[in-house]
Amino acid sequence: MPKDLVGIKELAKEDIELILGTALSFKDVLKRDIKKVPALRGKTVVNLFFEPSTRTKTSFELAEKRLSTDVLNFSVPTSSVVKGESLFDTIKTIEAYGVDYIVIRHSSSGVPHFIARNVGASVINAGDGINEHPTQALLDAFSIIEKKGALDGLRIAIIGDIYHSRVAKSNIYLLSKFGANVRLMGPPTLIPSMEDYGVEVFYDMDKGIKDVDVVMMLRIQIERQGKSFFPSTREYFKYWGLDMKRLGLAHKDAIVMHPGPMNRGIEISSEVADSPQSVILEQVTNGIAVRMAVMYLLTGEKR
Ligand code: CP
Repeated sequence: MPKDLVGIKELAKEDIELILGTALSFKDVLKRDIKKVPALRGKTVVNLFFEPSTRTKTSFELAEKRLSTDVLNFSVPTSSVVKGESLFDTIKTIEAYGVDYIVIRHSSSGVPHFIARNVGASVINAGDGINEHPTQALLDAFSIIEKKGALDGLRIAIIGDIYHSRVAKSNIYLLSKFGANVRLMGPPTLIPSMEDYGVEVFYDMDKGIKDVDVVMMLRIQIERQGKSFFPSTREYFKYWGLDMKRLGLAHKDAIVMHPGPMNRGIEISSEVADSPQSVILEQVTNGIAVRMAVMYLLTGEKR
């Protein structure tokens, strides 16, 4: 395993398999009465979130506590970042405390890679700009395998704002390494060129979703869209939203995924989000075990 987890693109298939296998053991731990192991006792982690987060931040924090690490949550709005301190100086200050892990979310692509080159601690990317969100793709893969047994040969639709989605990028890199048939669909303005990864592109959702085994919906990322990429949210739902009628075109046992936070009524109907085919909350549960596995396996210089 490498020192850092900055992206799925850089991660070997064998390392992904190791993480997913280790996560399975940690999932068993999380079913016990006492959900804590001393695996990383004495280690320290700092969670540095420069962008809002509900799931990823709480999931990392729980994973860290379940592994018995000391946890430091860095609050950007009340830190010297607002006085103009550079990212480099902030990171070097934190490193001087002797931390073992830095979990970072930042609005700029490449920030985790920059930090990883400059510190001895293990750096984990919790989402960088429109680049990658590797632990989300790992927990998605874990959740798919749990339901479908394997990734190889599965038909997986990734639908929506692919251009701005770091979740989509990490999933495309991971699923293509494992031989899944990935279909991208969404407005042409929101689909980047990803042909190198063997994906198929559909501009008609009714055609693209036909017979798929997994439907992965994406959040419309209004906050990253400097201009309007589609006429209105009502029109977006009409062409790219997942309702029960459209879900009926997928395989009858298809599962529905969404990384959250969801825009109900814009990319997904409440009926679908809360249906028996939805595994959205199971994704959240699995995130803890997967993040425990990542932290346990990374090989920082201090360990
Ligand atoms: N999936 C995800 O990254 O959600 P948050 O933004 O709530 O962390």
